Amino acid sequence: MSLLLKISVYLCLCAGVPCVHLVSWLPCQFTDEHVFLNLEGHTETEHRHREAALQFGQTGDAPLNPRAVTFLITGSKLDLRRFLEETEAEHLDCELRRFSTDGRRARWPVQGGPGSNRWFSCTLRHAQGLFTVTGVLRHPSDQPAPGQQDYHSWPAIADGETLTTSVAVVIKTQTPSVRAALASQQKLHCQFAVDHKGPNVTVEWHRQRRGERTRLFSHAARSGRSEGGGVGLRGLAGGDASYGVPFAKITSEGTYVCSVTVPPLFVSLDISLHIEEPPRVSLNIGPALSLQEGGERKVSCDAEGYYPLDVEMVWSVQDPAAADRRVGAPLPQVLQNVLLTSHRRNRDDTYSLTAFFLLRASPRDSGRRFTCSVSHRSLRAPVRKSFVLTVEEPWAGPRPLGLAAIVLLLALLLLLRHLHSARKHMQKKKPY
Ligand SMILES: *[C@@H]1O[C@H](CO)[C@@H](O)[C@H](O)[C@H]1NC(C)=O
Repeated sequence: MSLLLKISVYLCLCAGVPCVHLVSWLPCQFTDEHVFLNLEGHTETEHRHREAALQFGQTGDAPLNPRAVTFLITGSKLDLRRFLEETEAEHLDCELRRFSTDGRRARWPVQGGPGSNRWFSCTLRHAQGLFTVTGVLRHPSDQPAPGQQDYHSWPAIADGETLTTSVAVVIKTQTPSVRAALASQQKLHCQFAVDHKGPNVTVEWHRQRRGERTRLFSHAARSGRSEGGGVGLRGLAGGDASYGVPFAKITSEGTYVCSVTVPPLFVSLDISLHIEEPPRVSLNIGPALSLQEGGERKVSCDAEGYYPLDVEMVWSVQDPAAADRRVGAPLPQVLQNVLLTSHRRNRDDTYSLTAFFLLRASPRDSGRRFTCSVSHRSLRAPVRKSFVLTVEEPWAGPRPLGLAAIVLLLALLLLLRHLHSARKHMQKKKPY
């Protein structure tokens, strides 16, 4: 496959076509389906993954991969490749599916043949999540129009078959997944294009959250009627249906669905919005703590105002010498006597948590650094706050001196008594 790709790129270059940024074909997975009624009379769908290729060219072109089902995309007003931002084929994930019109009836204004249209959807995802593009491919067929439940009578497609198609509708987002901090302003990108002028298009935005679906915006081009807000009408006329979230709250979280209806087609894209608010981390003491030997202190580390719930808090201790040593330094020791409060829910739906322990000052802890590390998915690296403990020994120096003083005092008293009795003795003798 990659050989074929190289050959096709090489051929293009030889022909002098500036196609380095326009892929000529893409390997794809075609998720074929077989819909049937099971023994209980319920509709069941069996999926089958088949090798396929998306090939850009003209009617009659030979397939570049003869084993695959080839979806040959011929020119229409829409060039799918223009939506792929010069991405190389190996960074694109391509999936093709059969597309059901679900009973919607409308004649497509661009006609290629006398029969009806068969539809396929093609979704191209950037491997690093930079964008998602979905196109609906129209394949004119000479078969009569399928009935309401078109999926019950999908015409078989053989391996190696080439289906000549053209792109009818494209929808794209450059923000398939958004991580937003609280109070931030966000733009959910959605762009669409249709292969004919003045289409009967309806653009809608919905938000799905915990099984609830809310319509945020809707605009029908033909009637000019709009409901809801968040989308600039001027941009909409040019195919920009981006939705603005002016002030992200916890309740803004969810899956946002941008959909475009051009009967009989309906295409939509999901954009997930996650709120991620980092914790504010603080200690109840300053960077240096001094305690007397045997003294106690409750030491706590607060992580406040974070979202979502999961947070990891670890207290550890490290020798001062070890921290400076580059090689062979022992790892900080994790403290085991730490207690956690339960998560507190704040008024703005964020959470707070405290990790605390009772510090008993022992001389061997003197000079050690105690560190609280907080990890949260909003943070690239854990936030660390630490303090250095100094343990003072309780008045140990002066003790021997005190003893000497007492001995000296006793000696002095004895001496005084001796002197006193000596004087009395002298007085008694005076009458001589
Ligand atoms: C335009 O599309 C809407 C559905 O999206 C449909 O109800 C309406 O009849 C269509 N109008 C025309 C003129 O086709």
